[in-house]
Amino acid sequence: MEQIVWSDNFSVGVKLFDDQHKRLIAMLNKMIKNPMATTKSETVSDVLSDMTNYAQQHFKSEEDLMIEHGYPHLEQQKKQHKEFREKVLKLCTATSYEVEAVPQVLLDYLKQWLTQHILHEDMEYKTFFEEKGVC
Ligand SMILES: [Fe+2]
Repeated sequence: MEQIVWSDNFSVGVKLFDDQHKRLIAMLNKMIKNPMATTKSETVSDVLSDMTNYAQQHFKSEEDLMIEHGYPHLEQQKKQHKEFREKVLKLCTATSYEVEAVPQVLLDYLKQWLTQHILHEDMEYKTFFEEKGVC
Protein backbone atom coordinates (compact mmCIF):
# COMPACT_ATOMS: atom_id res chain seq x y z
CA MET A 1 0.00 0.00 0.00
CA GLU A 2 1.25 3.49 -0.89
CA GLN A 3 2.07 5.82 1.96
CA ILE A 4 0.26 9.16 2.18
CA VAL A 5 2.42 11.99 0.89
CA TRP A 6 1.75 15.32 2.57
CA SER A 7 1.44 18.29 0.23
CA ASP A 8 0.04 21.81 0.48
CA ASN A 9 -3.28 20.41 -0.76
CA PHE A 10 -3.67 19.01 2.74
CA SER A 11 -3.17 22.34 4.48
CA VAL A 12 -6.29 23.46 6.37
CA GLY A 13 -4.78 26.84 7.22
CA VAL A 14 -4.57 26.34 11.00
CA LYS A 15 -0.98 25.50 11.93
CA LEU A 16 -1.85 23.39 14.96
CA PHE A 17 -4.23 21.22 12.91
CA ASP A 18 -1.77 20.88 10.04
CA ASP A 19 0.86 19.72 12.53
CA GLN A 20 -1.55 17.26 14.13
CA HIS A 21 -2.64 15.94 10.71
CA LYS A 22 1.03 15.53 9.73
CA ARG A 23 1.70 13.55 12.89
CA LEU A 24 -1.35 11.33 12.32
CA ILE A 25 -0.25 10.72 8.74
CA ALA A 26 3.29 9.93 9.91
CA MET A 27 1.90 7.41 12.42
CA LEU A 28 -0.22 5.80 9.74
CA ASN A 29 2.62 5.79 7.20
CA LYS A 30 4.78 3.98 9.71
CA MET A 31 2.14 1.24 9.93
CA ILE A 32 1.74 1.09 6.15
CA LYS A 33 5.52 0.81 5.70
CA ASN A 34 5.79 -1.85 8.33
CA PRO A 35 2.49 -3.34 9.53
CA MET A 36 4.42 -5.68 11.82
CA ALA A 37 4.81 -4.53 15.40
CA THR A 38 8.28 -2.99 15.45
CA THR A 39 9.69 -4.29 18.70
CA LYS A 40 8.98 -7.30 20.83
CA SER A 41 7.47 -5.26 23.62
CA GLU A 42 5.34 -3.19 21.26
CA THR A 43 2.22 -5.08 20.27
CA VAL A 44 -0.07 -4.30 17.36
CA SER A 45 -2.72 -3.07 19.76
CA ASP A 46 -0.20 -0.64 21.33
CA VAL A 47 0.61 0.79 17.91
CA LEU A 48 -3.06 1.16 17.10
CA SER A 49 -4.03 2.67 20.40
CA ASP A 50 -1.22 5.24 20.15
CA MET A 51 -2.62 6.42 16.88
CA THR A 52 -6.25 6.39 17.91
CA ASN A 53 -5.50 8.16 21.21
CA TYR A 54 -3.67 10.85 19.32
CA ALA A 55 -6.59 11.09 16.88
CA GLN A 56 -8.93 11.66 19.85
CA GLN A 57 -6.77 14.50 21.16
CA HIS A 58 -6.74 16.03 17.71
CA PHE A 59 -10.53 15.78 17.30
CA LYS A 60 -10.95 17.48 20.64
CA SER A 61 -8.64 20.35 19.59
CA GLU A 62 -10.68 20.81 16.43
CA GLU A 63 -14.06 20.63 18.17
CA ASP A 64 -12.96 23.02 20.95
CA LEU A 65 -11.85 25.65 18.44
CA MET A 66 -15.06 25.16 16.45
CA ILE A 67 -17.16 25.69 19.59
CA GLU A 68 -15.13 28.76 20.54
CA HIS A 69 -15.78 30.38 17.15
CA GLY A 70 -19.29 29.08 16.49
CA TYR A 71 -18.39 26.96 13.47
CA PRO A 72 -21.66 26.13 11.66
CA HIS A 73 -20.71 22.56 10.67
CA LEU A 74 -19.66 21.45 14.15
CA GLU A 75 -22.33 18.73 14.34
CA GLN A 76 -21.23 17.19 11.05
CA GLN A 77 -17.62 17.13 12.26
CA LYS A 78 -18.62 15.62 15.60
CA LYS A 79 -20.64 12.98 13.79
CA GLN A 80 -17.71 12.01 11.55
CA HIS A 81 -15.28 11.94 14.46
CA LYS A 82 -17.71 9.72 16.36
CA GLU A 83 -18.13 7.37 13.39
CA PHE A 84 -14.37 7.09 13.11
CA ARG A 85 -14.03 6.34 16.82
CA GLU A 86 -16.71 3.64 16.73
CA LYS A 87 -15.51 2.02 13.53
CA VAL A 88 -11.87 1.89 14.64
CA LEU A 89 -12.91 0.52 18.00
CA LYS A 90 -14.91 -2.20 16.26
CA LEU A 91 -12.04 -3.09 13.94
CA CYS A 92 -9.58 -3.07 16.83
CA THR A 93 -11.82 -5.29 18.94
CA ALA A 94 -12.05 -7.71 16.05
CA THR A 95 -8.25 -7.77 15.92
CA SER A 96 -6.95 -10.60 18.01
CA TYR A 97 -4.29 -9.75 20.58
CA GLU A 98 -2.02 -12.38 19.13
CA VAL A 99 -1.83 -10.92 15.62
CA GLU A 100 1.61 -9.83 14.57
CA ALA A 101 0.63 -7.29 11.95
CA VAL A 102 -1.90 -4.49 11.64
CA PRO A 103 -4.74 -5.92 9.53
CA GLN A 104 -5.03 -4.64 5.98
CA VAL A 105 -8.72 -3.81 6.38
CA LEU A 106 -7.84 -1.46 9.22
CA LEU A 107 -5.04 0.23 7.26
CA ASP A 108 -7.41 0.66 4.30
CA TYR A 109 -10.03 2.26 6.49
CA LEU A 110 -7.60 4.58 8.30
CA LYS A 111 -5.99 5.75 5.08
CA GLN A 112 -9.27 6.30 3.27
CA TRP A 113 -10.96 8.04 6.19
CA LEU A 114 -8.05 10.30 7.09
CA THR A 115 -7.37 11.56 3.58
CA GLN A 116 -11.04 12.06 2.72
CA HIS A 117 -11.82 13.75 6.02
CA ILE A 118 -8.91 16.20 5.77
CA LEU A 119 -9.47 16.99 2.10
CA HIS A 120 -13.25 17.45 2.38
CA GLU A 121 -14.75 18.11 5.84
CA ASP A 122 -11.68 19.74 7.39
CA MET A 123 -10.99 21.78 4.27
CA GLU A 124 -14.43 23.33 4.72
CA TYR A 125 -13.27 25.13 7.86
CA LYS A 126 -10.23 26.67 6.16
CA THR A 127 -11.96 29.85 5.00
CA PHE A 128 -14.05 30.06 8.17
CA PHE A 129 -11.01 30.14 10.48
CA GLU A 130 -9.13 32.37 8.07
CA GLU A 131 -11.93 34.93 8.32
CA LYS A 132 -11.84 34.64 12.13
CA GLY A 133 -8.12 35.42 12.01
CA VAL A 134 -7.10 31.97 13.31
CA CYS A 135 -3.97 30.63 11.66
FE1 LIG B 1 -12.04 16.84 11.63
